[in-house]
Amino acid sequence: MSGSLPENHVTLLLFFSLTISFPAALCTIQSCHAWPMTQLVDKVTDTWLIREVDLGSSKSRLDCARLCVSMLACTSFMVNHSTRRCRLHAHRLTDLDIFRPDLGFVTYETSRAPGAVGSKCTTDIECAMNNSLCLSGQCQCQATHSYSPNSRSCVTECPEYGQEFTVFPNNYITGNNLQVFIEPEMITPEACEAACLAYTLDVCRSIDLDYDLQMCLVSNETSFTAPASFIYYVKNIFYHQRQCAYQD
Ligand SMILES: *[C@@H]1O[C@H](CO)[C@@H](O)[C@H](O)[C@H]1NC(C)=O
Ligand SMILES: *[C@@H]1O[C@H](CO)[C@@H](O)[C@H](O)[C@H]1NC(C)=O
Ligand SMILES: *[C@@H]1O[C@H](CO)[C@@H](O)[C@H](O)[C@H]1NC(C)=O
Repeated sequence: MSGSLPENHVTLLLFFSLTISFPAALCTIQSCHAWPMTQLVDKVTDTWLIREVDLGSSKSRLDCARLCVSMLACTSFMVNHSTRRCRLHAHRLTDLDIFRPDLGFVTYETSRAPGAVGSKCTTDIECAMNNSLCLSGQCQCQATHSYSPNSRSCVTECPEYGQEFTVFPNNYITGNNLQVFIEPEMITPEACEAACLAYTLDVCRSIDLDYDLQMCLVSNETSFTAPASFIYYVKNIFYHQRQCAYQD
């Protein structure tokens, strides 16, 4: 398997050099390169999935690359060469993302990927976007900002909020809650984030998960809208800031 990967790389470079004038202003030659991630095969992730496309009878890998490049939000993509399924992601996929086994899928990244949201990092300067930082080993927007896939930048307010959250350990927003849950089954990232997504009376922008007090707190504020309430405190508490939705 790994023996065939360099060939894929060359094929894609050739593809892009041949079609570079076709998508015209969409990309420079440099930003149209794509390459396979040899460690990310036979598995898929839903992290920052923009959409999954059935490529039908087309030449799967190349058309998936073309779709990704033509969509400004797309940083990485995955293709199942046999079934011609193509998954477009607004985030640089790495082995720090949560994958599940799915035979046949190969992950590729584009040259938008280095320093992009999701990139592995050890220091903030490795993260290319303004107002981004290295958080838990991956480039993310700072707590004052949410990632906007459409502009590929960190913004202080989303036109529409999505399903992704960025988790900041040892932080929370004091007060400013829309809802408070203390049921044991709510004290997980999945359950508390789901409560945020399900809240309809206002925009839920963040949650606090306090594992010491066993509380899930849902809020319409962020560390940007309520800076004075945003507290750093070394305890078993996590602030999850909601990120922007991808908009068609
Ligand atoms: C992907 O391709 C493999 C063959 O390489 C096939 O067995 C598998 O069912 C496909 N998976 C999906 C989810 O399409
Ligand atoms: C980042 O911020 C600097 C200084 O404010 C600005 O000049 C630059 O255009 C910004 N870059 C992007 C990609 O927004
Ligand atoms: C959050 O809700 C409170 C109470 O309704 C309101 O006063 C405040 O302006 C809201 N904050 C944001 C950022 O919308």
